[in-house]
Amino acid sequence: VSRLSVFVLDDYEAMSRAAADLVCDLVREVPSASMVLATGETPMGLYRELVHRRAAGAFDASSLRTYQLDEYAGVAPSDPRSLFGWMTRSVLEPLGIPPEHVVRLPGGGAPDGALFAYDRELEERGGFDLAVLGIGENGHLGFNEPPSDAGSATSEVELSPETLRANKRYWGDGAPVPNRAITTGMKSLLASRRILLLASGSRKREIVAARCTAP
Ligand code: PGA
Repeated sequence: VSRLSVFVLDDYEAMSRAAADLVCDLVREVPSASMVLATGETPMGLYRELVHRRAAGAFDASSLRTYQLDEYAGVAPSDPRSLFGWMTRSVLEPLGIPPEHVVRLPGGGAPDGALFAYDRELEERGGFDLAVLGIGENGHLGFNEPPSDAGSATSEVELSPETLRANKRYWGDGAPVPNRAITTGMKSLLASRRILLLASGSRKREIVAARCTAP
């Protein structure tokens, strides 16, 4: 990372609007930008803001190329726990991103070759212009559980007990959180030309202080 800017904003809505400004500026500059987009609660305000701006004619996502950040192993998009399903409902459809511009991760149990091909395709296209990320309470980015190697490839990983505990809140007690996932690797994320890392709420205070103010 060549330059780190930290913005502390008054509340969640202000954070989401500032993030939307940044995304809109980038898309005006590079309409066909490649973006990897996180699910999770944190970026939902940003996505809602982009949907409003699109409805107002101020944002056009039709040339964007989007990549899936992470997914639980062994869940179908129709499964309520599927992160791709969540992304489709909250971002891809409301923003009118054409399905042919959406790159999905290989599914759970995919051979290493498929994961390798995913990273290679991304690299050949020049990598991400923007990574929109949240951060786990344990510091994970995507499902790269700490300590993750900065050069890690896209891979299938085992989720930590902290992540399983934290993510239970999305689905209540109905369905267990799968304990394996596919995640875009740290190498591709860190190579992104810009990274927009969003964090909000007291649950994130400690990890943000540790990661964003450490020397
Ligand atoms: P959250 O998830 O945005 O729902 O807090 C962040 C994460 O686990 O990466």
